[in-house]
Amino acid sequence: MTDSLTVRDNRTGAEYEIPITDGTIRAADLGQIKAADDQPGLATYDPGFVNTASCRSAVTYIDGEAGILEYRGYPIEQLAEKSSFLEVAYLLIHGDLPSKEQYDDWVHHITYHTFVHENVKAFMQGFRYDAHPMGMLMASVGALSTFYPEASNIADPDNRHIQIVRMIAKMPTLGAWAFRHAQGKPYIYPDNELNYSENFLSMLFKMSETKYDADPRIAKALDTLFILHADHEQNCSTNAVRSVGSSQVDPYSAVAAGIGALFGPLHGGANEAVLKMLRRIGNKSEIPAFIDGVKNGNERLMGFGHRVYKNFDPRATIIKKACDDVFEVTGVNPLLEVAKELEKIALEDEYFIKRKLYPNVDFYSGLIYEALEFPPEMFTVLFAIGRTPGWLAQWLELVQDKEQKIARPKQIYTGQRQLDFVPAEVRWA
Ligand SMILES: CC(C)(COP(=O)(O)OP(=O)(O)OC[C@H]1O[C@@H](n2cnc3c(N)ncnc32)[C@H](O)[C@@H]1OP(=O)(O)O)[C@@H](O)C(=O)NCCC(=O)NCCS
Repeated sequence: MTDSLTVRDNRTGAEYEIPITDGTIRAADLGQIKAADDQPGLATYDPGFVNTASCRSAVTYIDGEAGILEYRGYPIEQLAEKSSFLEVAYLLIHGDLPSKEQYDDWVHHITYHTFVHENVKAFMQGFRYDAHPMGMLMASVGALSTFYPEASNIADPDNRHIQIVRMIAKMPTLGAWAFRHAQGKPYIYPDNELNYSENFLSMLFKMSETKYDADPRIAKALDTLFILHADHEQNCSTNAVRSVGSSQVDPYSAVAAGIGALFGPLHGGANEAVLKMLRRIGNKSEIPAFIDGVKNGNERLMGFGHRVYKNFDPRATIIKKACDDVFEVTGVNPLLEVAKELEKIALEDEYFIKRKLYPNVDFYSGLIYEALEFPPEMFTVLFAIGRTPGWLAQWLELVQDKEQKIARPKQIYTGQRQLDFVPAEVRWA
């Protein structure tokens, strides 16, 4: 068997042999296929990159058919159960699990970089009282590039490393402050004696007490949720980080672009949309009418379907378990009943079966977040905090990959050409 593709161009009768490597052909190899010498070479048309690999990556493996998700080769189920978010962050960034010494050093560094410059606080306080926390997060992460101008020196490994530590460390601070801002409450400084998720909970919810004492079950559930969201190979926001990063801009600007992508309802905003949908449905008796509307194409069943997972989303299974732990502390969210019934009905319905639509990670995460008293606008912020190590691991891979170039897709031009410009005074006369 030869690892190549023989292509016959029926316009000219010419044949070409194109090498196949790792199940792909190089799109640039198609450029030699031309209808005539003075014509442009053949290109591929792939809106949404549904069948185009943009990079080689050793960070995350997904088998959508089998419902497998692995970070650096380790199954998500094992990491969620036995690891911690900061250990997973280390794994994603460094490619391997840490020794005890490496882990302690990593945690120490992250912990001692949680504070931000006081001007960041002043800057955040300048937002309108009702500013969306995701907009605040995106702007403040972008603004960090002005506090660390040396971050633009992306060729220096030590410099890259300190920016990575800073970003993972400061993300909860910025996220918590965006949350406090909307409530008109004072911003709470980090507490270096707490672990990552306890510290985040403290910055979110602490009032006049000297020390915020988070329920360990809640802190653990949050840590697990961060692990589940830590990376997901070439999704929309990671692609945004890589695309913007390919211009060799500093990592704060690249991650700010990722946050922008994550803000959209088809990506990170889906769990907020799930909750709104569940509230609108209200009770179980309304579900059949709602499902009919989805099948008639009036709207989508939010939290269902995935570009990659076509049998089940392994993260959804873990989240369902985390739901039970959280509800043990907070009491059951009444919308859980609606969600469970909706899932049951949809999974038995021909429309969803035929299209391989299953609950994704967002179907249940919103219910947990709500039980933790987060308003829906905060859900995507939590996602962004979890995804930060993944974005940075992918960015790190990008900037060290000699094959990468500035992202610059082709287009198929459909507009007019060679019009004669008529000046306004003539057109409007
Ligand atoms: C995630 C998502 C964007 C993936 O989209 P995709 O891979 O581009 O799939 P398509 O949009 O091509 O959908 C394929 C078919 O399933 C249908 N479909 C996909 N998701 C659906 C949903 N959630 N509800 C109802 N129908 C859905 C589409 O209408 C389409 O049907 P058709 O073939 O009759 O036209 C999509 O499933 C979706 O919008 N889900 C809801 C939002 C969500 O939960 N996002 C979070 C992702 S983690």
